[in-house]
Amino acid sequence: IKERVMQQISESDSIDQIEQIRVSVLGKKGEITAILKGMKDLSGEERPVVGKIANEVREELEEAISQKKIQMKELEKQKRMASETIDVTMPAKKVSVGRKHPVTQVFDELKYIFMGMGFKVAEGPEIETVLNNFDALNAPKDHPSRDMSDTFYFDENLLLRTQTSPVQVRTMKSVKPPIKIISPGRCFRSDTPDATHSPMFHQLEGLVIDKHVTMAELKGTLQTFAEHFFGEGTRIKFRPHNFPFTEPSAEVDVTCFKCGGKGCSMCKGEGWIEILGAGMVHPNVLRNCGIDPEEYSGFAFGMGVDRISMLRYEVDDIRLFFENDMRFLDQF
Ligand code: PHE
Repeated sequence: IKERVMQQISESDSIDQIEQIRVSVLGKKGEITAILKGMKDLSGEERPVVGKIANEVREELEEAISQKKIQMKELEKQKRMASETIDVTMPAKKVSVGRKHPVTQVFDELKYIFMGMGFKVAEGPEIETVLNNFDALNAPKDHPSRDMSDTFYFDENLLLRTQTSPVQVRTMKSVKPPIKIISPGRCFRSDTPDATHSPMFHQLEGLVIDKHVTMAELKGTLQTFAEHFFGEGTRIKFRPHNFPFTEPSAEVDVTCFKCGGKGCSMCKGEGWIEILGAGMVHPNVLRNCGIDPEEYSGFAFGMGVDRISMLRYEVDDIRLFFENDMRFLDQF
């Protein structure tokens, strides 16, 4: 057996083959194993003699097998090294580096500016309740924005939020004033896409609630924001407006950052560009959220981040932001 197996080992040329040989002699059903198992049937004189020889052969074969395995592994390694040489003169594959989406870049900038003024970032779900999106925000039952043709409803209680204002409701219900938050996020309205409308868009809202908060602070906050975002010398202007959740309410314009207010194509000759809605939080909204309007007051503002991004990068069609065309995105 020994000679035959030694011969087989020296002739084998793969680890698999050696393993097969090992199993055939030393495995559970191997030849040597069988001899060792058969020892109990031998006579008292034969047993030590046969046992000694069988054990010696087993040890020698084990040694030979493990030596051969080491040898084979070394050989395979050398073969692999030879086949895996690297040709350093080959041209490299082009690596394309990703970057932040322009709207994300503007979000980052807005967060940076408002965090510098002490605002904390608050987020909420995109699937909201009618209660948080409309009722708590003092929207009259017949307000046009509640209409099926404007809002995506799941059922009579759930919808895709049409604004980030429900985050304000969630915050006021769960945190005691003082509150100073911005809520950036995605919103949805059942609009037909065109150059200025997209059924999915982004808002950033701000909310400040404390004792003795006044409209002067709202103006100061927005003035500081406008100068940081649109550039030094930017002025702001409040125009009376109406929102259900603020009273008084205003739409806010900034002086055109392109012509400095003289009038150009950017501002359609007007010198002013509308950028956001704002106002003093309506007492009903405070009450709906468990805050006493006799003790606390506050202001809120909200802007369309896609619209602001369009202004910043002079993009004339909102749809470009969401088509994921690399020729467009590569420019930012
Ligand atoms: N949520 C309002 C909108 O979508 C914007 C807004 C927010 C206005 C906060 C005033 C105060 O039109």
